Amino acid sequence: MKHISKLLFLREPLVRQVAVLAFGLLAVSAAQAQNQEALKLYQRGLAATCANCHGTDGQGVVGAGMPLINHLSSAELLKKLTDYKSGAVTGTIMPQLAKGYTEEQLQTIASVLGKK
Ligand code: HEC
Repeated sequence: MKHISKLLFLREPLVRQVAVLAFGLLAVSAAQAQNQEALKLYQRGLAATCANCHGTDGQGVVGAGMPLINHLSSAELLKKLTDYKSGAVTGTIMPQLAKGYTEEQLQTIASVLGKK
């Protein structure tokens, strides 16, 4: 009898630990899913700053006279953006705009807007 109660005593914390661990894992994966959502929102938000002139997802705005950018791949977009940033390519608006973003932000924008 003493043995059994000792066994039960030992097992209970183990069950609790497993439960706590399982709950912890659930909480971590929920947090990761939330972070993924937040990251996606941030990435789309960055790319959305281009929509004023280039249209949603770079599709252009009818009659706006702005260059279409939805035919460019991510690599082509990134090349143009970094050229604007460095001054290798001139322009009216894009050089100023591109300078306002970090390399990492330009990579994010190019990966979101680039033709898939
Ligand atoms: C205020 C309007 C405006 C905004 C906002 C804007 N652009 Fe532009 N974009 C232009 C204009 C105008 C040009 C033509 C070059 C110039 O005069 O700067 C251009 C040119 C480009 C080109 C070159 C297209 C080609 O075929 O050579 C790319 C790529 C581009 N923009 C990407 C972007 C991205 C990405 C964003 C968002 C970070 C953005 N633009 C935001 C106005 C804008």
